[in-house]
Amino acid sequence: MKILVLHGPNLNLLGTREPAVYGKVTLEEINAALLKLGEELGCSVSTLQSNSEGELVDAIQAASGKFDGILINPAAYTHSSIAISDALSAVSLPVVEVHLSNIHGREEFRSKSFVARIAVGQISGFGIDSYLLGLRALCSYLKK
Ligand code: DQA
Repeated sequence: MKILVLHGPNLNLLGTREPAVYGKVTLEEINAALLKLGEELGCSVSTLQSNSEGELVDAIQAASGKFDGILINPAAYTHSSIAISDALSAVSLPVVEVHLSNIHGREEFRSKSFVARIAVGQISGFGIDSYLLGLRALCSYLKK
């Protein structure tokens, strides 16, 4: 099983970005934990972070035929990007959406996700554990 992990804009700043909201964990630490868990679960993990909507769309399109599923934290594009949602629909790969913070407990505009309608499920509010739970859920879904 091959999983593509996509991180959206500003997640490269994790560690110093609003630590009261996102914690002190860095993107490198999240990626290292995902790679380690992926090995344990028998799911190989590739990661990409981009601040650009188009680059994320390109990566989703290129995932078709190369990956079995996508774990994505679309960050702010969650709430705005029909292009990312359409790309995920187009490739027809199982998608799990994750967020470090609880998007349903913050500003109202964060409650709307354009990705949720095409995702197998969403995990939100558990910091780095959102990613790790999401990877477990996606691997388990793919093995069924
Ligand atoms: C986020 C939540 C989004 O609302 C925000 O724009 C982010 C990060 C999260 O992981 O909690 O950049 O996706």
